[in-house]
Amino acid sequence: MIEASTSASPLYNYRVVRQFTLMTVVWGIIGMGLGVFIAAQLVWPVLNFDLPWTSFGRVRPMHTNLVIFAFGGNALFATSLYVVQRTSRVRLISDSLGEFVFWAWQAACVAMVVSYALGYTTSKEYAEMEWPIAAWVTLVWLAYAYLFFGTIAYRKVSHIYVGNWFFGAFIIVTGMVHVINHALVPVSLMKSYSIYSGATDAMIQWWYGHSVVGFILSVGFLGIMYYFVPKQAERPIYSYRLSIVHFWAIISLYIWAGPHHLHYTALPDWAQSLGMAMSVILLAPSWGGMINGMMTLSGAWHKLRTDPVLRFLVVSLAFYGMSTFEGPMMAIKTVNALSHYTDWTIGHVHAGALGWVAMISIGSLYHLIPRLYDRKQMYSVGMINAHFWLATIGTVLYIASMWVNGIAQGLMWRAVNSDGTLTYSFVEALEASHPGYIVRLIGGGAFASGMLLMALNTWLTLRHTRSESRSLQGSQPLVGSGV
Ligand code: HEM
Ligand code: HEM
Repeated sequence: MIEASTSASPLYNYRVVRQFTLMTVVWGIIGMGLGVFIAAQLVWPVLNFDLPWTSFGRVRPMHTNLVIFAFGGNALFATSLYVVQRTSRVRLISDSLGEFVFWAWQAACVAMVVSYALGYTTSKEYAEMEWPIAAWVTLVWLAYAYLFFGTIAYRKVSHIYVGNWFFGAFIIVTGMVHVINHALVPVSLMKSYSIYSGATDAMIQWWYGHSVVGFILSVGFLGIMYYFVPKQAERPIYSYRLSIVHFWAIISLYIWAGPHHLHYTALPDWAQSLGMAMSVILLAPSWGGMINGMMTLSGAWHKLRTDPVLRFLVVSLAFYGMSTFEGPMMAIKTVNALSHYTDWTIGHVHAGALGWVAMISIGSLYHLIPRLYDRKQMYSVGMINAHFWLATIGTVLYIASMWVNGIAQGLMWRAVNSDGTLTYSFVEALEASHPGYIVRLIGGGAFASGMLLMALNTWLTLRHTRSESRSLQGSQPLVGSGV
């Protein structure tokens, strides 16, 4: 890991923020690299190599867990621990606890990937980790919660900045649903059974699954948005009042939307309808948040012409708006009857995952890295610009191809002849999807190459800093005054 440089602020613990920041880039490359690999497998099935540990079934959860918990998780740790210190004007309550959370989380991520490759899984989506890893994650999460809330408790300003409310809700709800969904009976070191069964098990699982979407991929990243968008735009947040309404509305609604993952299943019909209704209402707070972020640029729109970091942040909000419009529509039962099981869902996921989650993380990291290493800006603004276009074009190719595939699949599966027989076999729908899989691979490949560019730019920024800081030793101004 990078040593604390001479530019380290004595006021704040930046070392742990740097560690999480660098690992976000590293895990982003690995997680998205695996995404490109499974996308390629869907184009050329021969890439499964007839080996269990390289088969799609095993690599897919490696991809999903790494992008959510390792890439997204590290981005959230880095930004939340930075924001909580800056806005509370106080150092983390414990440096050694911060160090523990960092190493313990990396260990958890490695344990997840290795265990999935070896075939150990609970088979619950996004909760595949077997019980020893789940227990370890709980421990790390408690330590993280203590670090975050403990720092807030010792803050030197009276109010708690709204971004911290979002991070706080993300920490509490993620911990809660993780523990409840992982209520297991272990039968051996790497095998356990859920204490729930049947429809209850499915309901708890998707209550958890949607909370991962809602509280990690949405609320957590909204915490990022509330700090980094105003900072990069150099404007105050558009409406503080709206941000408070946004907060309470989104956290009270998200937790009810899970049943939309289980339409037309054995789940009681009333629960499905409740999930549908809550999902449709969710459009309002989601767009409230997006508008609050976008409008923060009032009077600063011209900066988009020259500032690719701001462009990352604003385009991420546009994708957030798009995916949170699409989600409520897909939650309507009749729409879901067409979209469910098809690539439309995959397109929706990645509109949120690439367009929103990854783009806002990348934008915030580009804001953060020069500040953490006491540089005016990243080594190459041109490379950030190239990254921006690779990411934007990559996302558009990914989601457009999946929409076409998804709607084609849904319509082909439900087409019936006048005698009641199916018009198309499953394989015919699969053949029709092949061109879309190629386009998705190209889009995903573009997005992942952008991450490589980011790694190079980060490395050059760091290298430059090191030689620079050597020559400036002793005279380095302190970073970290003010919020
Ligand atoms: C108002 C907000 C949103 C609503 C109401 C919503 C609704 C939905 C619906 C109806 C599905 C399809 C369920 C199915 O047919 O199986 C879905 C899937 C999904 N959505 Fe959203 N969505 C929203 C925002 C987001 C955002 C911002 C993300 C961020 C990445 C996201 C990530 C996902 C994921 C990962 C799945 C796939 C779950 C799975 O089956 O594995 N959603 N969403
Ligand atoms: C280079 C970028 C990426 C590529 C090429 C990629 C590719 C893929 C592929 C091929 C699948 C399997 C689709 C299927 O089963 O039919 C998938 C699933 C998934 N990916 Fe990605 N992905 C990328 C980035 C991301 C990121 C950054 C995130 C989250 C932050 C993400 C979250 C997910 C999720 C949640 C699923 C499961 C969706 C579901 O079950 O409905 N992906 N990805």
